[in-house]
Amino acid sequence: MTLPVRDDLVGKTPYGAPQLPEAINLNVNENPYPPSPGLVADIASAVADAASRLNRYPDREAVALRTDLAAYLTRSTGVPLALEQVWAANGSNEVLQQVCQAFGGPGRVALGFEPSYSMHPLLASGTATGWRSVPRAADFTLSLDAAVAAVREHRPAITFVTTPNNPTGTVTTLDVVAAVCAESAGVVVVYEAYAEFGSSPSAATLLADHPRLLVSRTMSKAFSGAGLRLGYLAASAEVVDVLRLVRLPYHLSALTQAAARAALAHTDELLGTVEAVKAQRDRMVDGVRALGLTVVPTEANFLLFGQFDDPAATWQALLDRGVLVRDLSSGPGLAGWLRVNAGTVEETSAFLDALADVVRAQ
Ligand SMILES: Cc1ncc(COP(=O)(O)O)c(C=O)c1O
Repeated sequence: MTLPVRDDLVGKTPYGAPQLPEAINLNVNENPYPPSPGLVADIASAVADAASRLNRYPDREAVALRTDLAAYLTRSTGVPLALEQVWAANGSNEVLQQVCQAFGGPGRVALGFEPSYSMHPLLASGTATGWRSVPRAADFTLSLDAAVAAVREHRPAITFVTTPNNPTGTVTTLDVVAAVCAESAGVVVVYEAYAEFGSSPSAATLLADHPRLLVSRTMSKAFSGAGLRLGYLAASAEVVDVLRLVRLPYHLSALTQAAARAALAHTDELLGTVEAVKAQRDRMVDGVRALGLTVVPTEANFLLFGQFDDPAATWQALLDRGVLVRDLSSGPGLAGWLRVNAGTVEETSAFLDALADVVRAQ
């Protein structure tokens, strides 16, 4: 049967990181530490309370949740942010989809510095926005001159700067972000999904000077909330107003809002896992290097390591030993590399043992 699919979607591949519950999953940059029993109880009670009103639509503006997120962002970035400057949706993927719907579309292009997050071109394609890919330097960094030249050449409606960058872990400094903003007539999205694992200042510090800057974050990583589906951004109140034009009515369920607020009330406890995750990441970096492999310097909860003549075979050999990592090596600029995220102490040991075994056998 031939379906009447949009021409520009024919032949495209969906996002599809494997989910294999029987393996040690170190392939989607999750936080390995689940919420504590106390937090689980608080979330359950907040969700039960919200469930008692499920006959009603949720707060369409998610005011209480956005107020809590604004308070967290103010605290973590040092930049005073108000409710009107904060937007939230079902994961930062949905936030970015709304950005593409509002600022992209037919006849417009989005620009990314690749390798980077594989969803950016897919979100562009889903919203009929053109995609322009500009390569990063060989060490996966992004120089000011290269970034500004790319904006000058492509005149994007949306520019994505992911820092720390997925899948490389490399950081883009704020002077580069500021220069990209100054050169751009379109919006600039700084994607800080992994910011809490690094030590770099947030691009939120540039918001006052750059009205078309959007800084996106998520509760999926440092907050141990990948299953919650809650992403958010900080921007000017005008940008937030525009996003309201494309969001679906009541896009954030009452249960999501309640659970996210309960989690945010435990911010210190949740972010308490960050140091443990970083310690395992650093252990992984040292362990992988000790095997004679190369690791790209990282400020995230994952690392890119290689280079392998046959990364797919190495990926399979690791999986045969019970450890699932990410093979993105068919993506732009990633030939020969694999990505793995930090696990618990035991998971990290299992990965390092499996990799040592695989390298010995190669
Ligand atoms: C750069 C980046 N942004 C966002 C996400 C996912 O965000 P969310 O779970 O908030 O949709 C990921 C997940 O791997 C990511 O690497």
